[in-house]
Amino acid sequence: MLRFNKVSFGYEAGSIIRDVSFEIEAGQFVALLGENGAGKSTLCRLCNGLLKPTSGTVTLDGKDTRSVRVSDLARTVAYLFQNPDRQICQNTVREEIMFGLEYVVSDTEEQRRRCERMLSLFALDGGREPFSMSRGERQQLALASILAREPQLLVLDEPTTGLDYRECMLIMEVISHLHKEGTTILMISHDMEVVADFAERALVLSKGMLIGDCTVRALMKNRDLLSEASLLPAQMPALALELGAGFEDVFTIDDMFKRIDDMLRHIA
Ligand SMILES: Nc1ncnc2c1ncn2[C@@H]1O[C@H](COP(=O)(O)OP(=O)(O)OP(=O)(O)O)[C@@H](O)[C@H]1O
Ligand SMILES: [Mg+2]
Repeated sequence: MLRFNKVSFGYEAGSIIRDVSFEIEAGQFVALLGENGAGKSTLCRLCNGLLKPTSGTVTLDGKDTRSVRVSDLARTVAYLFQNPDRQICQNTVREEIMFGLEYVVSDTEEQRRRCERMLSLFALDGGREPFSMSRGERQQLALASILAREPQLLVLDEPTTGLDYRECMLIMEVISHLHKEGTTILMISHDMEVVADFAERALVLSKGMLIGDCTVRALMKNRDLLSEASLLPAQMPALALELGAGFEDVFTIDDMFKRIDDMLRHIA
């Protein structure tokens, strides 16, 4: 689905992405992690052709992002900006959702159908002005606008930052549902609980270099990699790490409950 082959990218001030290679298969849910300024957002913008590599190649569905127009790539990949206000540019919620759709769907009836589906999925009022909405609602609108395009690959730049718990769960449930239906997800997140609950694989970036590519479970148990990337594990794997021997396989609350239950039965 998405392939980075020895990709480097830089601005005049210097190199931001350094010799990064990885491949994401269709249907995977991948978290992109790393410290502030590691180059995560830059890497995401390389996925959809908004930025082109200085060297190496990025291919999406076998197409080199350098040789295909961004508007053509937009049929396959959708990018949710880190800040929804950099994405939202129309005067009403309905216009905002329709705006991106017009590039990928020519049938106006189909455009309207998809728009209404998004309004109802996120319980949004189509007539509202985006800038009168809360940060959480604007984030939902930004997500609704790109989901209306029904992309195969969804690239999400910190989709839950700045949201309260309920808003975070609403967004993650929608994303998780799409993943179950086959959409490929690449998600930047600083929230390791969200990563532990939803993602399967972790790509770890530090100073523009890919220093880890493993399952989320393996990452949460790898003290060296976590510390090199300035990451903290989610609470349950962190507790299991502290408890040490006998808790190696504990990752979720359910795992912990079963492990303790086993131990108590053993004692009794
Ligand atoms: N347009 C630009 N021109 C020059 N340098 C830039 C530009 N955009 C980003 N950078 C620099 O590139 C580096 C990586 O930035 P990037 O936004 O990709 O990091 P990030 O991992 O997404 O960080 P954060 O977690 O803070 O969002 C930073 O040092 C940043 O200052
Ligand atoms: Mg960023």
